[in-house]
Amino acid sequence: MKRIVVTGGCGFIGSNFIRLMFRTYPALQIINIDKLTYAGNAENLADFEGDSRYQFCHGDICDAGFITRTLQQAPVDAVLNFAAESHVDRSILDSGPFVQTNIVGTQVLLDVCRKLRIPRYLQVSTDEVYGSLGPEGFFTEETPLAPNSPYSASKTAADLLVRAYVHTFGFPAVITRCSNNYGPFQFPEKLLPLFISNAMADIPLPVYGKGENIRDWIHVLDHCRGIEAALMRGRTGEIYNFGGRTEMTNIALTRLLLQLLGKPESLIRYVSDRPGHDLRYAIDCSKAEQELNWTPQVSFETGLQETIAWYQQNTHWVEHIRSGEYRSYYDRQYGQRLA
Ligand code: NAD
Ligand code: DAU
Repeated sequence: MKRIVVTGGCGFIGSNFIRLMFRTYPALQIINIDKLTYAGNAENLADFEGDSRYQFCHGDICDAGFITRTLQQAPVDAVLNFAAESHVDRSILDSGPFVQTNIVGTQVLLDVCRKLRIPRYLQVSTDEVYGSLGPEGFFTEETPLAPNSPYSASKTAADLLVRAYVHTFGFPAVITRCSNNYGPFQFPEKLLPLFISNAMADIPLPVYGKGENIRDWIHVLDHCRGIEAALMRGRTGEIYNFGGRTEMTNIALTRLLLQLLGKPESLIRYVSDRPGHDLRYAIDCSKAEQELNWTPQVSFETGLQETIAWYQQNTHWVEHIRSGEYRSYYDRQYGQRLA
């Protein structure tokens, strides 16, 4: 591939993916389309400014004219859609932007890519489309779709549009579905960076409910390697699950973080549960292992230590975010001022 388009490249996973692709394919050209919402941060890729391989296009994936013009500039080998409203709690406060970006934005991308005959399209989706597991079992690609939050419902709708375009038009798309990512550049509204930054500032860590919900943690680089594998080797119309085989209750993870940071457990605050809170996610990623020759490589111990170190070394990055729109969101979500 010579040139790819990444949407949402200024976010957490998109920026890590662009870095990985430039490391792996030094001659690749990448166009990054991003609206720079509260979650998009151009600083995440500041070191590529002026690099002739990289082009940033500020705009909205819901704007068909803008997407058409951007994709017509030069031949494009693939479009990867990372752009989304991505936070479950915000979708509970207001689902409007989720329907707009996650569903309408995907439909616009599909239509423009189809019209321009883009040879490859990859939809970055989530394990949350499968709903919630009980204490046993794993999500496979065959698990029925049963989204429980406005966020996951919007991601499911997008996946179904992609499926329908493959079926109806023979559209050359692949879907990936991944579990909870962690790593550098994650916006500190999500559990791990929120709890690391709060603990570093001696602010209470708000654990929802009893902290018994389970997530399957994967390092963002393992997710990005999976997306790269699906882009290069995935079969059209197929879905590939990625997970880290690292299940942990939220409270166990919180205690581990406090221990690694040398902070007291008295910082833990049990707060009201998330409405409709999914109990457990766990991924069976054997299809990706067999078909894509992919497997998660980063051990949770190493990945977590490195992630903590990144947040310790990049306090200015966190402070920049925590001084903006984030403060009013925090007040509204947690009923408490961010010190
Ligand atoms: P993020 O919130 O960090 O980044 C989203 C990016 O999309 C931001 O840069 C934002 O500015 C951009 N964006 C939002 N609306 C846009 C629009 N209308 N037009 C153009 N750009 C827009 O999200 P993330 O955690 O990096 O997630 C990326 C993708 O991966 C999402 O599709 C998400 O559903 C999926 N995913 C995330 C996880 C996870 O654990 N974070 C796991 C599985 C799948
Ligand atoms: O599973 C993949 C999904 O993982 C992605 O599709 C989403 O984009 C991503 O945000 C993430 O969703 P979660 O809702 O699982 O992640 P979050 O970090 O918001 O929460 C992780 C767990 O921690 C969840 O059980 C809720 C809990 N939690 C979260 C926050 C923000 C708390 O207990 N307290 C908190 O303050």
